[in-house]
Amino acid sequence: MSNPVTAPKIPVFDTPVTAEVESLRPHYSAEKKQQIKEQIKALLKAQDAVLVAHYYVDADLQELAEETGGYVSDSLDMAKFGNEHPAKTLVVAGVRFMGETAKILNPEKRVLMPTLKAECSLDLSCPVDAFSRFCDQYPDHVVVVYSNTSAEVKARADYVVTSSIAVKLVSWLGDQGKPVLWAPDKHLGHYIERVTGVDMVLWKGSCIVHDEFKSRALGQLIEENPDAAVLAHPESPDEILALADVVGSTTQIIQAAKDLPQQKLIVATDSGIFYKMRQEVPDKEIVEAPTHGEGATCKSCAHCPWMAMNGLDNLLHVLQTGENEIHVEENIRVKALRSTQRMLDFAKMEIS
Ligand code: 13P
Ligand code: SF4
Repeated sequence: MSNPVTAPKIPVFDTPVTAEVESLRPHYSAEKKQQIKEQIKALLKAQDAVLVAHYYVDADLQELAEETGGYVSDSLDMAKFGNEHPAKTLVVAGVRFMGETAKILNPEKRVLMPTLKAECSLDLSCPVDAFSRFCDQYPDHVVVVYSNTSAEVKARADYVVTSSIAVKLVSWLGDQGKPVLWAPDKHLGHYIERVTGVDMVLWKGSCIVHDEFKSRALGQLIEENPDAAVLAHPESPDEILALADVVGSTTQIIQAAKDLPQQKLIVATDSGIFYKMRQEVPDKEIVEAPTHGEGATCKSCAHCPWMAMNGLDNLLHVLQTGENEIHVEENIRVKALRSTQRMLDFAKMEIS
């Protein structure tokens, strides 16, 4: 008789409140801000360092990345860029798994982050010991994990994916008749399962930001704006995705904003993305999907509290001190590299 399968238990973790995180950030005058930016630019140059930022971080950091030959993108492209760039130091403005991914791929480079406190609820929901026990119950399944996980979880996985290639990679595994164990985002997992029809077992984590979008309020907004297109990140709950015209990674959402004929866009993802989106479609009206519907428990209000921990102040500090370097134990890194490199190889195969 086979062992009874135990459902994964999601640990309790502390969630910072975005408004509180932001209230702790220093507020600079325009002149002081410019001065700090100039100091950062000089230090990046002097240290052969490049700034790689996620769309959800502060607009000042996104702007700096672009002005200094760095990069702003989704998690897959951040990893690719860091991997291909010749700089000796990668400064990653985002959350910890992004810095760890950079280190996994580039052990010879120094990887710094403005803060090491920037977690991710998906990563926190999936501790390696419990995850490993879960995997042990499904020895015939291919283990595919979202990039929003620790290096240890990636080391236990067969494949890492980001939201931009999750559907394609799982579909490719499905074509080979392989069942998939997926972790940690249940919403993205359900979405992949629905689109690909692949047999999957799911970990039950979620993103505290995307979890806040409210389908009833969104439905009402759509009724009031029949001319608008709805764009959603697949970390959003099923009922939100069911209302979306386009579901995709942050980069895919920005691309859709450019490609779609609609002049009005309702967007269900972290509001940090609006900085780039407004640059790309300055003439379109961008409306935030509602998080305030009935029963809202919103701690984040569509802005990730951990992403909000990145700022000009702590970016300058790490460049001045060399603090906040990312280290990944070598035996973990080597194993995590296998599953992470497979993602990059798959992405390359997709392009060619
Ligand atoms: P992307 O890979 O789409 O940028 O998503 C990362 C993330 O953490 C979204 O919440
Ligand atoms: Fe994690 Fe959600 Fe923040 Fe993205 S927005 S880093 S998934 S908590």
